[in-house]
Amino acid sequence: MKTDSRIVWDMDLINRYDLSGPRYTSYPTAVQFDPNLSSTSLVSQGQSTADRSAPLSLYVHIPFCAHVCYYCACNKVITRNRDRAQPYLDTVYREMEQLSQWYSDDRLVDQLHWGGGTPTFISDEQMFELMSALRKNFNLRNDDQGDYSIEIDPREASPNTLEVLRKAGFNRISLGVQDLDQKVQEAVNRVQPLEQTQAS
Ligand SMILES: C[S@@+](CC[C@H](N)C(=O)[O-])C[C@H]1O[C@@H](n2cnc3c(N)ncnc32)[C@H](O)[C@@H]1O
Ligand code: SF4
Repeated sequence: MKTDSRIVWDMDLINRYDLSGPRYTSYPTAVQFDPNLSSTSLVSQGQSTADRSAPLSLYVHIPFCAHVCYYCACNKVITRNRDRAQPYLDTVYREMEQLSQWYSDDRLVDQLHWGGGTPTFISDEQMFELMSALRKNFNLRNDDQGDYSIEIDPREASPNTLEVLRKAGFNRISLGVQDLDQKVQEAVNRVQPLEQTQAS
């Protein structure tokens, strides 16, 4: 957090994440993938949690990126064709409707995360629509007390993107910055001037 020109370190936040985590580039993380998990057992696992009241954490993956970064190990689809987003979102909506049946309506969503790929590849309207679909199917908080976050590629964030995201209900962002050295940026095919990142 930056107030005036002084950086204020949030020790609670630092302590909360001061532990080793799994490689993050797949969701669920790679260690949780199991080839023996059939669709039947997926359903029964979901049903077995139906009567719990613990809060939920939801992750939505938007796999599209307009440009490839050579180092990237994420699950992504490189395309400049923005029309590819809607059919994917329609599938996400169907999955959401199926999954949400397993969770009682009173389970609050304490954590929501959109990652990618590049979540802001989709249009502002599509982002609002996706958030509405999440609200329709799950019990999203209205008090701004959850961790609702989104991954931002500064190259894919227009000046009003943050306003749109705040209106949609996000209260956290992470900015993708791989390297500040222009030569490295060229080598990894991710040219992102510091000013662009600072503007975000
Ligand atoms: C998955 S990207 C999602 C957001 C957006 N697509 C972006 O690149 O900013 C989030 C972050 O992961 C980083 N990343 C991706 N692959 C990586 C790798 N193999 N090693 C280290 N960081 C990586 C990206 O540079 C970016 O900062
Ligand atoms: S924009 Fe992000 S997700 Fe896409 S290729 Fe680059 S690092 Fe990977």
